[in-house]
Amino acid sequence: MEQQRQRPRIARYKPYYFKPVPGKTYLWCSCGRSANQPFCDGSHRGTEFEPVRYTATEADGEILFCGCKHTKVRPFCDGAHNNLKDTYDEDDPDSEANRCITTVIHDRDGRFELNGACYVGRVSGIAPSERGNTRWRALVTAATGAKYQSFFHLEVSGGHSPVMAFGDADVVLLATAGDGRIEISGRSFPLAPESGIYVRPRETFRIDNPGEESISLYLAVCPQAAEPDFTRPMHDSFDAAHPDRVVPFDQSKRQQMGDRTFQLLVNKATGSELVTQFIGTIPRSKAAPHRHLYEETLVVLRGNGMMWTEDLKAKVGAGDFIFLPAKQLHSLQCNDPAGMLVAGVIYPGGNPNINY
Ligand code: FES
Repeated sequence: MEQQRQRPRIARYKPYYFKPVPGKTYLWCSCGRSANQPFCDGSHRGTEFEPVRYTATEADGEILFCGCKHTKVRPFCDGAHNNLKDTYDEDDPDSEANRCITTVIHDRDGRFELNGACYVGRVSGIAPSERGNTRWRALVTAATGAKYQSFFHLEVSGGHSPVMAFGDADVVLLATAGDGRIEISGRSFPLAPESGIYVRPRETFRIDNPGEESISLYLAVCPQAAEPDFTRPMHDSFDAAHPDRVVPFDQSKRQQMGDRTFQLLVNKATGSELVTQFIGTIPRSKAAPHRHLYEETLVVLRGNGMMWTEDLKAKVGAGDFIFLPAKQLHSLQCNDPAGMLVAGVIYPGGNPNINY
């Protein structure tokens, strides 16, 4: 009879943030019994577990050691802790501590500023620029605190938009309203609402709107750009090594994350080594405060709620965006009985399921 494998103990339901010394070797506890987490202290003796040896490299910088011991990428966190309970870790918005947190009601140029350079933005509050039939707004740039990505909103009325380029950057788009097509360096693709679209470095693109209704798009650029370059011609430089550029929103591809779900849109599988785009659902709840190692921009597609940081919070609703610097403590609350639908772009790309 096949012997049952022992299960590791869950040391805790979140990872351990750690700054390793390059060249140094660490022994990560895989059994969960060590009193010196996340490292081995010999307590695995007599079990079938062995510590996992990890030698840090210069490139490692900051890491998250798995704390729940259920990761598939030992010794690092892969988000497995989020699925060891039925619900995502939650927080009481009416707790005594949370009742002391101030709601920001005044914006600065469309941005409601929270702690640590985090903000909630209202697209309509941000001054637009125009080029032909295209109205565009810079929502997130280096000038508003981002280190790695820029984020723009485009509104394209009938006809062809001007050709746009962002040099050597990866460009990731999300159409939210209107029907049309996108031409990327000579190839044309349909624009479906809530689908991810990927434009490779050095390609140019334009939006074709055959209808009456404006097409609305959000556009992430990494590395950053202050504005689109409208001076380039459309050319035939389509990178045929990566032919699939549209990733449709498909509920059957959702991954579970406690009682939340997410679907990866543009990511490494589409060809982007830098960024990961996802779309996800959040039930009515307030996530426990947590951090990510990545920088993130989120757009609320449906529903409403509140974005919290250490001692400030701001309302957020459909069409708003949130900029979240790496390592900023935060919590997104959904107040909508029907839940929230959000779309995000993270840099560095990877797994939006990893929090600490
Ligand atoms: Fe857990 Fe050694 S104490 S692997």
